[in-house]
Amino acid sequence: MDDHISEAVGRPDLIRLDDGLVCLRFETMKIVSALAAVRHLLDTGAVRRGDTLIDSSSGIYAYALALACHRHGMRCHIVGSTTVDHTLRTQLDILGARLEQMPPSSDLKLDQSRRVARVQEILRAHPDYHWMRQYHDDIHYLGYEAVADRIHTQTGGESLALVGGVGSGASTGALAHYLAKRSVDVRLVGVQPYGSVTFGSEHVADPEIIIAGIGSSIPFGNVRHDLYDTLHWLAFDAALAGSVDLLRRHAVFAGLSTGAAYLAAQWERREEPGRTALFIAADTGHRYIDTVFARHGEAARVEDLAPRRVRGTEELALPWSRMDWNGSPAPVDAVPG
Ligand SMILES: Cc1ncc(COP(=O)(O)O)c(C=O)c1O
Repeated sequence: MDDHISEAVGRPDLIRLDDGLVCLRFETMKIVSALAAVRHLLDTGAVRRGDTLIDSSSGIYAYALALACHRHGMRCHIVGSTTVDHTLRTQLDILGARLEQMPPSSDLKLDQSRRVARVQEILRAHPDYHWMRQYHDDIHYLGYEAVADRIHTQTGGESLALVGGVGSGASTGALAHYLAKRSVDVRLVGVQPYGSVTFGSEHVADPEIIIAGIGSSIPFGNVRHDLYDTLHWLAFDAALAGSVDLLRRHAVFAGLSTGAAYLAAQWERREEPGRTALFIAADTGHRYIDTVFARHGEAARVEDLAPRRVRGTEELALPWSRMDWNGSPAPVDAVPG
C-alpha cells in the first residue's frame, strides 16, 4: 500500500502495444523525479521540513513539485508560464502551493527568461528559499532509477530503443543511464520540436502552437547530449497525427510530446526490428482536448508520414526530420553559462 497519492500517481505503467512497441505511460511524469529530489535534499540536510522550495515550470513539474512538497511537509512556490491551465491552477491553490503566472506571451524565449528573472528576484527577497533548478540540478535524475529497474525486469533485459521528448533532459537521460548501468543494450532517441536551441533547431520555426514541455529557447545543464544516438524533430501537425493515432489505434490518451515520441518509436522499430522501441508518454490528453483532439479530423494518416533524413542540423525541415546524433556534444548555443 502507498503512503501518499504521489507514489500511486507517479508510478508509470508499461504497456506492450504491439510486437516490438512498448509504451511507458505516466499520468504525470515528473512526480517520481520531484519526490526523489526532495527526499534527497532532506536526507542530505540541504533543506528542512517546512522550508520553501521554488522553481519555474511550464506545466507538469509544477504539479509534481506541489505533490512532493505536500508529501514531505514543505512549502512550494511556482513561477509558471501561461501554459499552466485553470485545472492545474485550482489544484495548486488547494494544495497550498503558491503560483505566480507570467503574462501571456507567444514568445517562448521571453516567457522562459522572464520566469528565470522572477525566480531570481524572489530569491533575493527570500534567501532562505531553495531553488530546485529542475533544468540544471541532476538530483532530478535520481527518481528514474526505480523506473529503469522496472523496465529492466519487465522487458526481460531485451535490447531497447528508448524514445522520449527532451525538455530538461532528465527523464530520457536518466532512464538511458540507469538502464545502461543494468547492462541493457539501449539506444537513446531524443524527440525535439522545431525552434529549440537544445539540439540546434532554433533556425526552423513551426507556424503552429508549441509542443508543451519539450525543447527550449535557453540552454539547460541537465541535457547530456553525449547520451543520445538519434534525434527526431517533429512539428505540431505531425505530433497531432501521432496523438490521435495513438488514441484511435491503441486507446492510449496522452499529450502531444507523446504523439511525437510514438511516431518516432514506430519509425525506429522499422529501422531496427530486433530492438524493442519503448516510448515515453509523459502526460494524459486532458490538457490538449481543444488544441489537439478536437481537431482529429485534420490529422494526417501516420502511414503517410516519414522523416526526412538529415546529416546536419542546417538541413532540418518541417514537418519531420531524423538525424544520427551519435553522442555529439551540445551545439554552442545549448551550452549553459
Ligand atoms: C508533456 C511533457 N513531455 C515531455 C517532457 C520532457 O521531460 P524532461 O524534462 O524529463 O526532458 C516534459 C517536461 O516538461 C513535458 O511536460
